[in-house]
Amino acid sequence: MTHKKLRILRFDPSAANCREEVFTVAMQPGDTVLQALIDIYDRQDSTLAFRYSCRYNRCGLCGVSVDGRPRLACKTKLDRVDEVAPLAGLPLLRDLAVDRGSYFKKLSGLSLYPVGALDNMLGTLREDPLHRNLMSCLECLCCVSSCPEHDFKDSSFAGPYLYIKLAQLHLDTRDTADRRAQAVEWGIKRCAGCMLCSCPNGINLHGALASLMS
Ligand code: FES
Repeated sequence: MTHKKLRILRFDPSAANCREEVFTVAMQPGDTVLQALIDIYDRQDSTLAFRYSCRYNRCGLCGVSVDGRPRLACKTKLDRVDEVAPLAGLPLLRDLAVDRGSYFKKLSGLSLYPVGALDNMLGTLREDPLHRNLMSCLECLCCVSSCPEHDFKDSSFAGPYLYIKLAQLHLDTRDTADRRAQAVEWGIKRCAGCMLCSCPNGINLHGALASLMS
């Protein structure tokens, strides 16, 4: 077992300020950033706020910024990591916890599920490889955090997460809504094609955007 120092950017809502705190954590080969956060919470500071649930790359709740890049804490190996911070571009709640709920609330009313006649719903879903890939989106919001065009306060550009959802539905043979029109309404034309948005879970973001724009 070795030890390493980990810088954590913490947000204090009562003082409305961010500060950096350095923790020393014990590390075994293969340990993840999430294991280090849980260890800090259990042994050093139980006031450290962060989110997780499944611990194995399924729930999407553990998104954080790792050395400046949006990553899933439970999937990111600890050995080369220096700094953990909250996901950029989303409202801060406390320490590493961001307000995911208000992002999803902005999109309520969009019917982000297949809509169509009952006959359609009972029909067979024909999947293509892109659709299958997009369906593994964990909703971690790392893509939104890495998009330079996205601004949480600006509702006219929803950011990549919504375009993944709309592309899932556009490619869903049962869905009858016009998802391309919704994407335009929610600002897809403002996507600069910079390709800086990234997904730590291998979602083909650029395929999703292309399917809605072509
Ligand atoms: S804890 Fe569920 S995806 Fe990381």
